[in-house]
This record gives sequence, C-alpha cells and structure tokens, in this order.
Amino acid sequence: MSILNIKNLNTYYGKSHILQGVNLNLDKPGCLALLGRNGAGKSTTLRSIVNLTKPSSGEIIFKDTKLKGLSTYQIAEKGLTMVPENRGMFSSLTVIESLNIINNNNNKWNIERVLESFPQLKSKLQNNSISLSGGEQQMLAISKALLTNPKLILLDEPTQGLAPNIVLELVEILKRILSENISLLIVEQNVNMALEIANEISIIGKGETKWNGTKNEFKKNITYHKEWIGI
Ligand SMILES: Nc1ncnc2c1ncn2[C@@H]1O[C@H](COP(=O)(O)OP(=O)(O)OP(=O)(O)O)[C@@H](O)[C@H]1O
Ligand SMILES: [Mg+2]
Repeated sequence: MSILNIKNLNTYYGKSHILQGVNLNLDKPGCLALLGRNGAGKSTTLRSIVNLTKPSSGEIIFKDTKLKGLSTYQIAEKGLTMVPENRGMFSSLTVIESLNIINNNNNKWNIERVLESFPQLKSKLQNNSISLSGGEQQMLAISKALLTNPKLILLDEPTQGLAPNIVLELVEILKRILSENISLLIVEQNVNMALEIANEISIIGKGETKWNGTKNEFKKNITYHKEWIGI
C-alpha cells in the first residue's frame, strides 16, 4: 500500500488555472521533498491535498483512501496533517494552551511524549506562542501536528528564516520523526536540507510536475534540474 499517490491534480484560484497536472508518489514510509521555484505551485499542492483549497480534478489516495470529498478535519482524522507556511500559530494562546487544544491522552503522541522530543518548549509552556523564536514556533507547530497522531505530515518550508544551527536541529528532529514510522512531504527552498532527509524528490514548475525520482537519480541530473528549482 502506497502512502500517498496523486494523479493529475488540477486546482484553480478563481479563473486562474494554478495546478495543471501534479503527480506525486510516496510508495513506502519515508520523506518526499517537493522542490520548485517561487510561485511554482508548491503551497497550492499541499493545500489541495488537505482540501484547504479544493482541487477541481485529479485523484489523491492516502493509504488506500480516496480523499475526494473529505474535509480538512476528516483528512486529519485519517492521519494526514499539515504544518502551514505561517506555522499556524494561535497568537493569543500560551504554548501549553495551544497544545491542550489538540491533545488526546489516548493517542500515541500526547503532550508528555511530544515535550520529550522538544525539551526547549518545556521551559516556555506559559509563554505566549507569538513570543517564541522562529525555531521554537516551528517546533510548536510540529508538536501540534504530532498530537494529531499522524501517519503523514506535510511541511511547507519549515526552515524558512531559521538560523543555520536551528536548521541542523530541525533536520535531526525530522529524522527522529521519520524513525517513528511517520512519513513527511516537505516543501523546501533549502535543497541541501531536503537532500539530507528525503528519499524521493518531485520537481514542480508552472503548476506541473516536471520530474519525479529518487534522491540518487536527482543528484545525477542536478544540472538539468537547476532550471526548475532556481538554485
Ligand atoms: N489565494 C490565491 N489567490 C490567487 N492566486 C494565488 C493564491 N495563492 C497563490 N496564488 C498564485 O498561485 C501560484 C502558485 O502559488 P503557490 O503559493 O502555490 O507557489 P509556491 O510554489 O508555494 O511559491 P513560494 O515558493 O513563493 O512559496 C502563484 O502564481 C500565486 O500567485
Ligand atoms: Mg509556498
């Protein structure tokens, strides 16, 4: 059973035809990195998968389930959750309040277990979430995603704006999540970071999938791929 299989996804914003044939596949648990230039349609792809933006056509299959017609909430219940680009902060809430909203003690991932993975957050539980540093906000956003007990997490540019040492820390956290048999679909401008954790690479250009393959195949063709990923 494949983790995620997307065929010929098309999405419009009003009359603008943004996604014009996106095809993605993650056959076995692991990390798929979606790369592409600014405006290529990466965020729209993630939003379409969780039905934050409704696709007009195409098929999205998550672990044998067709997602068509399901709400974002129903999709999260099935184990597919997204960390959005702005990290989805609840600005007026403290760290512990943001975690409590989602916590379900019966889940494999509860607050106690999540905080073991993010010790930095432990000392900030009473702080307002908007007062956290960029790296801490990213960690809170990932913690919230873990509390939904996901099988697949979509991450939209998690390293954006983070200092290099925090990026390294995040890479280790994501590797630990992967070792827990949780898969990742990650959108990244930081290609080196993506290559550090991904097994599979997909390149999107002008709303269309241009290339899919393994990380090793990608590395062999990097000159050709530069045209589409702007590095
Ligand atoms: N809400 C919206 N309404 C209309 N057009 C939009 C909307 N959001 C995005 N677009 C357009 O859709 C296209 C794809 O945008 P998207 O945000 O998916 O790109 P992206 O690959 O994530 O880019 P970036 O790397 O800059 O984050 C762009 O041309 C963008 O201007
Ligand atoms: Mg984007």
